[in-house]
Amino acid sequence: VEKGELLYTGKAKEMYATNDPEVLWVQYLDQATALNGKRKVAIDQKGLLNNRISSLIFKDLAQHGIPNHFIDQPSAYVQLVRRVKMIPLETVVRNAASGSFERKFAVAHLTKFETPVLEFFYKSDALDDPFINDSQVAALKVASDEVVAEMKRQALLVNTRLQAIFAEMGVQLVDFKIEFGLTTTGQVLLADEISPDSCRLVDEKTQKSLDKDVFRKNLGDLTTVYQEVLARLATVEGSQ
Ligand code: C5P
Repeated sequence: VEKGELLYTGKAKEMYATNDPEVLWVQYLDQATALNGKRKVAIDQKGLLNNRISSLIFKDLAQHGIPNHFIDQPSAYVQLVRRVKMIPLETVVRNAASGSFERKFAVAHLTKFETPVLEFFYKSDALDDPFINDSQVAALKVASDEVVAEMKRQALLVNTRLQAIFAEMGVQLVDFKIEFGLTTTGQVLLADEISPDSCRLVDEKTQKSLDKDVFRKNLGDLTTVYQEVLARLATVEGSQ
């Protein structure tokens, strides 16, 4: 596959076309942003680490019956993915209180939920990604009821499998964000990335953050933390 024209520049990735209309070239960047892109910093190896972590997770999910856009990781900073039409929603699943949930409802940090909490946020930089509920999604025609139901079903399956992977790594999966796209035949397909940028991960023994909160809250060196996550994940996944 050959790299084509730049289609889109994100906060931590660039998307390129390829000579295959069904395939996109994702270039992971050594860059971190917070506050919806208002704070932007270069971070050594971050792109490489997120690419590797995301690739291993996507492969694992596919092997466990959760199809996704991942095709191949041809090099350290590059991932080849199936082209889909992105649905402009961030799907958040929470197993314990943190971040915006903790602030919104003033509950104690890491209070565990008996059943996972599922939330949608409307992807819009101009609006700062506001929370959106099912009837608002329908009113704005962002996605059909069937697509919303399918996103919820897949999100909960992803949660179950991710919890198992991270438990094996001695890590608690507090919450995460995923994104879906539609294939040309209208199938809902898991896309974007799953990495410590998009998950809240806490070490079960030390309660230390092993995710982007290290950057958001200035808790230490992000590269070291992501290296730790990859090292543990590679053990679980047999560094395939
Ligand atoms: O900030 P909040 O608590 O709503 O975030 C929930 C989860 O979604 C966290 O794991 C966070 O890393 C992720 N997230 C994300 N991208 C955003 C907003 C949240 O990956 N734009």
